[in-house]
Amino acid sequence: MIVKFTNFPKEFKILKKDLIKKFNKIGSKGHYVLGEELKNFEENIQKFLKVKHVLGVGNWTEGTVMVLKALGYKRGDEIITVSNSFIATCGAIAYEGLVPKLVDVGDDLNIDVKKIEKRITKKTKAIMPVHLSGIPSDLDQLNKICKKKKLHLIEDAAHAFGTKYKKNYIGTIGDVGIFSLHPRKSFHVLGDGGLIITNNTNLYKKILMMRNHGLINRDKSLIWGTNSRLDNLQAGFGNIMLKKISSWNRKQLNIAKTYTKHLNKILKTPKFNLKISNPTFHQYIIRTKYRNKLKNYLKKNNIETAIHYPIPIHRQTSYKKEFGKISLPKTEYFSKEILSLPINPHMTATEVKYVIKKIKEFFKS
Ligand SMILES: Cc1ncc(COP(=O)(O)O)c(C=O)c1O
Repeated sequence: MIVKFTNFPKEFKILKKDLIKKFNKIGSKGHYVLGEELKNFEENIQKFLKVKHVLGVGNWTEGTVMVLKALGYKRGDEIITVSNSFIATCGAIAYEGLVPKLVDVGDDLNIDVKKIEKRITKKTKAIMPVHLSGIPSDLDQLNKICKKKKLHLIEDAAHAFGTKYKKNYIGTIGDVGIFSLHPRKSFHVLGDGGLIITNNTNLYKKILMMRNHGLINRDKSLIWGTNSRLDNLQAGFGNIMLKKISSWNRKQLNIAKTYTKHLNKILKTPKFNLKISNPTFHQYIIRTKYRNKLKNYLKKNNIETAIHYPIPIHRQTSYKKEFGKISLPKTEYFSKEILSLPINPHMTATEVKYVIKKIKEFFKS
């Protein structure tokens, strides 16, 4: 048996008819940029997440660069975030001439809220938690700190479309949330894409112009802008995916529950609390000191795994100069133990059982 980490061909087979119909519809009208599909997609997301404003953009990274610019930060201002994330989390901050101030993570692999206040300085403007793998960060505490210190809360919601924290959706709880629609994300389009969501009308109006060169009509540009529009075709595909995402997220949660039930005595399974959230499990990240051996064993048995993330951002060559000397003990320690098991809505019960069986076999030996 081969267990794939993602299964795009299977997904394409399921959606093929609808995707082709959509392509035909958009193609026959010839509306490729800033058209009806994008408008519908933004309205559908608005209703789904119960948020005031939604903007489809080129990808998470460009979306975040625009958010940071629109919030009016100055070169050298600081944004508090984590190192246990994809490089883009810090990349977008640094691209804007801002300084990522890194805080260690807790056992849930999310920002350790107890360690934040020590890192706040006069230059700190915002906190940007990453809701890693679709498990929410401690948003009550984050909100409290942001209110007390008058900081913005910017949610890196790239992994967490559809996750709720208490009664609200991830991304709608802070001042602004940014999603990635990259194919590797649970909620995705068929290429690059991103979503910015906010209840702040001024911020929305600014970024609405920014994503299209600052233009208010064909000829008149009012502010700095770039080209970062989610194209109509991708928005059309997004509308199809949106109909599936709740049931696909539920499937992933069920796989996660099965993994946890069978594996929690032999390795460290993800920490989550179903009383306050419905984690969507974009990834299912376990921890074991035998990580590399287990990964190899699973590979030999045709089970694909991944590591999110093997090199913390502060240890990446691109950031060595800025952060090389920082010590984030848990982030560094966990990077050697973490392993993402296959999880996707197209996995069969037999495949899940096979993964569990092989992991148990490995630990027995
Ligand atoms: C946590 C996190 N933030 C940001 C990004 C960047 O998203 P994009 O590729 O849409 O720019 C990713 C993508 O992998 C991510 O995992």
